[in-house]
Amino acid sequence: MWGGRFTASPAEIMEEINASIGFDKRLAPQDIAASKAHAAMLAAQGILTKADVREILKGLDQILDEITRGEMAFERSLEDVHMNVESRLKTIVGQAAGRLHTARSRNDQVATDFKLYVRDRLDGFDAALAALQMALVDKAEAHADAVMPGFTHLQPAQPVTFGHHLMAYVEMLARDRGRFADARRRLNECPLGAAALAGTSFPIDRAMTAEALGFDRPTANSLDAVSDRDFILETLAAAAITAVHLSRFAEEIVIWTTAQFGFITLTDKFTTGSSIMPQKRNPDAAELTRAKVGRIAGAFQSLLIVMKGLPLAYSKDMQEDKEVAFDALDSLELAVAAMTGMVADMEPNVEVLRAAAGSGFSTATDLADWLVRVLKMPFREAHHVTGRIVAAAEARKLALDELPLKDMQAIEPRISKDVFNVLSPEMSVKSRVSYGGTAPQNVRKMARAWRKRLEKASAKG
Ligand code: ARG
Repeated sequence: MWGGRFTASPAEIMEEINASIGFDKRLAPQDIAASKAHAAMLAAQGILTKADVREILKGLDQILDEITRGEMAFERSLEDVHMNVESRLKTIVGQAAGRLHTARSRNDQVATDFKLYVRDRLDGFDAALAALQMALVDKAEAHADAVMPGFTHLQPAQPVTFGHHLMAYVEMLARDRGRFADARRRLNECPLGAAALAGTSFPIDRAMTAEALGFDRPTANSLDAVSDRDFILETLAAAAITAVHLSRFAEEIVIWTTAQFGFITLTDKFTTGSSIMPQKRNPDAAELTRAKVGRIAGAFQSLLIVMKGLPLAYSKDMQEDKEVAFDALDSLELAVAAMTGMVADMEPNVEVLRAAAGSGFSTATDLADWLVRVLKMPFREAHHVTGRIVAAAEARKLALDELPLKDMQAIEPRISKDVFNVLSPEMSVKSRVSYGGTAPQNVRKMARAWRKRLEKASAKG
């Protein structure tokens, strides 16, 4: 491409470090779409003849076809996807191909291609996360009443319901989708026509190419246009946070499926056996989902460091944005799909959950609240009295609702048998009716509202 100035070929190692075709060939569909928009605009502006552009468009369509059928031979000596496509175009349409690069550069090309690619992936994530939310809503609704221990410090704290626990993730994923949507909004300005860095002297119509490619508008500064990678940084940051959410849930699945907890069961579909220990059923999909966050957060870190301190405008450093991004986005897609599968597959063991919900004096707060409500005790005093009752139950190895009334009355004589109405996990969760609380009626209401929202959004689009 630059044989005018150069006489010798690059060193083998130069070619190796320089070439990106090995990974950026993924951008071929976007590269062709952007070239078609550019060519059509050049014709409309009278910069190229209609005849040349007709040839170019036909040739580009043929290349896309060849790529889809796996027939395109990419060459490392042609460096990247942009030059591979252009070179193939030259073989197909001859002379006219050389005119396509008028008023553009690989710098605005790659920024445009990558934005188009990332935008597609963002749309894919939105749909995939919505599907995961729906799977959670389904499970939550089915088990809105199933009591289980709620934990703080991974110590039994207060009873909650299984449905309420799952709905917590629906909220997290909603924020994740919000972050992706936000990144998409800011991404959606078209760099094409910024050319190498300074714009062009040709009378191009940047609004036309922007519109043809589904962008809201062209980027307003040519230097910024070719040197900006915020769109992928933001996407990776959002992906990293999503991956953190998935890893937290995956960790819970790992814990819940242990013999010691036994809170849920995963079927053969989402577990593996051991080659030596016949009794084993391992939650590998959950473990790998838990692990993916490493690559995803790593990709974000990696690109931050690549971009740090880069002077304007384009530098070849920025070619390093792609491999880590592809890997991170692929990893997230896989993790979301695996999690969606596991959620549909998991069955809570309601008996085990019920027994665990009642252990660890988990309704102690309910007892203290009862003392406040019925005996008008200040909460601090109620906390103290309850502590003494818990100690008495613990000494006798009894659950709170198994401790005889007279033992409670020995500590606080005004306690009546009514207290037993609040000491079971079922009564405890039922009473948590404050907005956002775990009461089954709340959970059902939230699940229904989410189902409506998700169905409405998927019908729209
Ligand atoms: N392969 C390059 C990249 O991914 C394309 C842009 C190259 N531009 C240049 N002036 N060498 O960034």
